[in-house]
Amino acid sequence: MYLRARGLPQVPQTRHFDGISTAADPTPLLSGRFAALHEQYIKLNPFYRGSSYLYQHYNDCFFANLCRDVPGDFLIAGVAFGATAKLVYEYVQFPRLGKTLHLVDPFDRRANGRVADTYNADPERVRSAVPLRSRDTSASNPN
Ligand SMILES: C[S@@+](CC[C@H](N)C(=O)[O-])C[C@H]1O[C@@H](n2cnc3c(N)ncnc32)[C@H](O)[C@@H]1O
Repeated sequence: MYLRARGLPQVPQTRHFDGISTAADPTPLLSGRFAALHEQYIKLNPFYRGSSYLYQHYNDCFFANLCRDVPGDFLIAGVAFGATAKLVYEYVQFPRLGKTLHLVDPFDRRANGRVADTYNADPERVRSAVPLRSRDTSASNPN
């Protein structure tokens, strides 16, 4: 009824992005500032392909931006090669927020009782790819 009243197609076109489907206008995923940053930083993950993480990263950036004025820091759990971290960092122009970005990952490549070939076991790779000031709490924590 709503679609007919607005003169819109009765069945909206559904687009599929790496396991996430939407009937909403996908334009912000495909062009503009987010799309350009995603294309640049998804390459930090050597296993990326086509639209890998496209919609997930859009949601990450959208909600990170909503939280830019919420008191407190940001934490990303699940870092791998740092693609998401770097993208969110750039998208929200993180240095302007006066927050700390915490990156949490065991870097042991374990996933559901097996070794995941597509995970990263080298945190140094993230440090060089994501040039953030970092503090290695594991080294200073005797426990
Ligand atoms: C699918 S990858 C994340 C990809 C990442 N978003 C990127 O930018 O490429 C999942 C990551 O989560 C990490 N991980 C698994 N369990 C975790 C946990 N309990 N806490 C934090 N990270 C975890 C894994 O080591 C792996 O690096």
